[in-house]
Amino acid sequence: METMNVVDEIKSRLDVVEYIGRFVQLQRAGRNFRGLCPFHTERTPSFHVFPDRGTWRCFGACGEGGDLFTFVQKRNGIEFRDALRELADTAGVQLSPEAAERRTRREHLASVMSAAVDFYQRQIREGEGEAAREYVFQERGLEPETVETFRIGWAPAGWHNLRDYLVRRGYSDEDGIAAGLLIEGESGGQPYDRFRSRITIPIADERGVFVAMGGRAVDGAEPKYLNSPQTELFDKSRILYGLDLAGEPAREAGEVVIVEGYMDVIGPWQAGFHNLVATMGTALTEHHAALLRRFARRIVLAMDADSAGMAAAERAGERLLNNPDAMGRATRHANNVSLGAGIELRVADMPGGKDPDEVTRNEPAAWKNAIASARPFPEFLLTRLMGDERPESPLEARQTVDRLRPVLEAVSDPVERAMYVQRVARHLDVREAAIMERLKRPSQRRLAARDSADSPEEAPSQEEYLLALILRHPSLRPRVRNLPPGLFSDALNRELFQRWLADEPLTADSIGVDPLQEHANRLAALRLPVLGDEGARKAAGQKINAILRDRLLQRQVTVSDELAELERTMGANQLAEISARAWKDGIALADEAEEAAQRVIESLQLGGSLHRKESPEFA
Ligand code: UTP
Ligand code: MN
Repeated sequence: METMNVVDEIKSRLDVVEYIGRFVQLQRAGRNFRGLCPFHTERTPSFHVFPDRGTWRCFGACGEGGDLFTFVQKRNGIEFRDALRELADTAGVQLSPEAAERRTRREHLASVMSAAVDFYQRQIREGEGEAAREYVFQERGLEPETVETFRIGWAPAGWHNLRDYLVRRGYSDEDGIAAGLLIEGESGGQPYDRFRSRITIPIADERGVFVAMGGRAVDGAEPKYLNSPQTELFDKSRILYGLDLAGEPAREAGEVVIVEGYMDVIGPWQAGFHNLVATMGTALTEHHAALLRRFARRIVLAMDADSAGMAAAERAGERLLNNPDAMGRATRHANNVSLGAGIELRVADMPGGKDPDEVTRNEPAAWKNAIASARPFPEFLLTRLMGDERPESPLEARQTVDRLRPVLEAVSDPVERAMYVQRVARHLDVREAAIMERLKRPSQRRLAARDSADSPEEAPSQEEYLLALILRHPSLRPRVRNLPPGLFSDALNRELFQRWLADEPLTADSIGVDPLQEHANRLAALRLPVLGDEGARKAAGQKINAILRDRLLQRQVTVSDELAELERTMGANQLAEISARAWKDGIALADEAEEAAQRVIESLQLGGSLHRKESPEFA
């Protein structure tokens, strides 16, 4: 949260043209600026800076774009937080000392983890790791490259091998404990190694920073897998095992497969399947989904065929379906039309009740087939919820429909939904129309949520909702003060917002009834969730994002309309030619032509930013 403030502050203090102009020679081109792209070699300028939006984009070979932060990241090959540090310096913005401290602390703990990974790797390569080598190479059939790729190691027997090593490397016991590698000794005793006589499997975040460790017993000890506890670095619900390696392959394939265990990532990798990640035995969370969405749209759950695995799949998907938020911010940007547009969630049936480790190695063709023919999640869920038994009574049938209802409702495409309804109707042996009818009725939950006294209110628009939030939460004032009133396209909303900004009291005008007052009353009567300051800030941020997104989409449509008109009057060829010249050569153009070219560039920039970038962030 506090980073967002800093980011906004930095952006408001730095002029994107001035800043980028330090590194790229920019020339004015209409409202915008252009120069030679610093990210690829070119002779004609296709790198554009858009001061209005504070963004830049290359329309040449590299097609990169973003804001000031992405520019610095890309230029210096650094991560966001480092770009943040650099830009904060430049802008003279003070990063909060706690934030800086936390960062160094995390980096420090990550270095402890790294040291441990090195240590364990050395143990499996050298002398004492005979049992481990036997297990890994013979019993599990891993190849040396695989073991190296996954940095698999061996934690020897004994209570303080790692501890001694860490001490030699200059780390304290507290470091080892905080990293989850050492366990605090009881009643003042010495800390000791958490992992003993176990194959070690390092767990990294998506960037490849080691954050935890899994340890597999080789001698039947319990538990089979011992994992790092939750630490400052490691939160199971946010980490997917293998994503550091699987990210790129997933991106290339447009598909990522979720499995249950470490070995279900490692084995398939060796068999040539590289786009797999594991949830480490927990349910898939919304954080996981949002993370994966950055890499691929098609997400296939390939859980073990045993019922525990499938139950996990069911839980995982239910979370995603029941909670639109769970689809993650990533899926909602660009077009918040429907769940289906963001993630395509599927469930694969593992052949013969085997796990992915076995299937990929022994029957790669069957694996490919299972993934390719994975069922859409709603179908999987409906089948499971319907069960095999046919209902015996009308009451039972109705209960089944009610149980299926959230799934059916989550299917936003009407054709798809009709198909599922048909299937349910057949299973229950009732008419489709009856099911449709039942779906139309408000569910119990919704009935309960609705105010019993009021007649059902028309749902407020995004703008109204935002404005109502603002009016109700004075704490939002500093955050919305700089919102352009134009954000509200409805005149009443805009006027009300402006008066509120100016602290002007609403007074009845000469007509007797102030429409603004009336509007304000209406907004005040809206039923909003009860929120604290933080919640209000979040909610307002989400609404603002939603409004902006709609606006962008709208604008894109408008721009294309204008373009279509221009195309008609000028001819598409001429328009394209002029635009191309405008980008590349910077030839001074006649006004009208330049304007047209500007439009083309703008529409591309808009489209690009919609599809490539996360929506602008608030709060
Ligand atoms: P599995 O028992 O399916 O493990 O548990 P696996 O990956 O197939 O392991 P192998 O093939 O027997 O070696 C799936 C996942 O659940 C977690 C681990 O992340 C494991 O990979 N798990 C399992 C634990 O954390 N602790 C356990 O004791 C067992
Ligand atoms: Mn297994």
